[in-house]
Amino acid sequence: MGRPLNATPLRIGVIGTGVISAQYFAQLSKLANLRLAAVADLDAARASTAAAEQGTTAMTVDELLADPDIDAVLNLTIPAAHAEIGLRALAAGKHLYTEKPLALTTAEARPMLAAADAPGLRVGSAPDTVLGTGIQTARAVLDSGRIGDPVGASVHWSNSGHEAWHPAPEFYFQPGGGPLFDMGPYYLTSLITLFGPVVRVSGTVSRSGRERTIATGANAGAPVPVNVDTHVTALLEHANGVTSTVTISFEIWATRAPQFEVYGTAGTIAVPDPNLFSDPVSVAVATDPAAEPEFVEVPVEAGYADAGRGVGLSDLARAIDTGRPHRASGALAFHVLDVMESVIRAGHEHSTIGVTSTVERPEPVPLGADPWSW
Ligand SMILES: NC(=O)c1ccc[n+]([C@@H]2O[C@H](COP(=O)([O-])OP(=O)(O)OC[C@H]3O[C@@H](n4cnc5c(N)ncnc54)[C@H](O)[C@@H]3O)[C@@H](O)[C@H]2O)c1
Repeated sequence: MGRPLNATPLRIGVIGTGVISAQYFAQLSKLANLRLAAVADLDAARASTAAAEQGTTAMTVDELLADPDIDAVLNLTIPAAHAEIGLRALAAGKHLYTEKPLALTTAEARPMLAAADAPGLRVGSAPDTVLGTGIQTARAVLDSGRIGDPVGASVHWSNSGHEAWHPAPEFYFQPGGGPLFDMGPYYLTSLITLFGPVVRVSGTVSRSGRERTIATGANAGAPVPVNVDTHVTALLEHANGVTSTVTISFEIWATRAPQFEVYGTAGTIAVPDPNLFSDPVSVAVATDPAAEPEFVEVPVEAGYADAGRGVGLSDLARAIDTGRPHRASGALAFHVLDVMESVIRAGHEHSTIGVTSTVERPEPVPLGADPWSW
């Protein structure tokens, strides 16, 4: 199945018009191979407001899924609804691109990939930040051998908790949330983009007893029940022998830890924030064995330039047209989910766990690939 080259834009139905939808709407109007066709939300008033702002039609979820003029569903609902909405979209014969995580569990996610296989539909998933110039340039530097052979990586993401800024943060503290399931996809997808699949993990997990309350919006002051681990550390062994050290936490008020570094036999890459698209990359290459090399910012070498959330869906639409695999794939998101689930399990069992799923590194994004004019 596939739309021919130069086909009309993929017609997108957005389900879930909450906080993150604004970032997607801003891109959908620019990406030439995508066209916003309708929006839906459990909260009909929210869908109507978004529809009015975007100049599109508000529908119920049922109407949107039944509409033959919608080719793909962009699922921007909360994690607990990702599998249900995703499976319904696929059953309705629509391609699916979903916010992360792919689902709450691998058990929930497996039927999504199976459903996509049969009729030739595509499943894509956030994060697509890794397709921007930041992570793609880091990958190009790594693959060029400039820091020698990769040995290890260290990632650190932390804050004190999303209740400090999100007006409806409850889902971040329920299964499918927590710092690992929320922010882990950016870091793990980047690590897998750089080094390939993870074969084994160990980890520790904990949560403080700190009481959390919503800080902003209509429900400010309301307590936030915590039903997830809020401090996670993990060791990931990649199939290529690289070890990644991961700390992801909602328990840290301040830190000086480097966010993302890759260590090679001849130097270090300072990788930019994987939650953003296009921050600069710096590299320190050993030239004198007696001296620590300085970090030097390198020019952009790869990636979709000026990208924002939605470029992964544009890449998927282009892949349908050209018959190639899309980069922000369901298979990659599934492997990331499997790794996250395994880390949490390893933490609770105090064990080391072999990761059974695997995935190829997605194709690199060459510099100059232009999603705006596809
Ligand atoms: N907020 C961010 O900065 C951010 C950043 C990146 C990714 N994300 C991801 O985007 C997704 C949405 O996050 P958000 O911050 O926009 O959440 P949100 O709570 O602001 O919005 C979610 C929307 O989905 C709707 N919804 C929930 N279940 C639904 C269902 N079954 N059918 C139809 N509509 C339903 C809700 O009514 C709400 O309007 C999450 O997966 C989150 O991880 C959020």
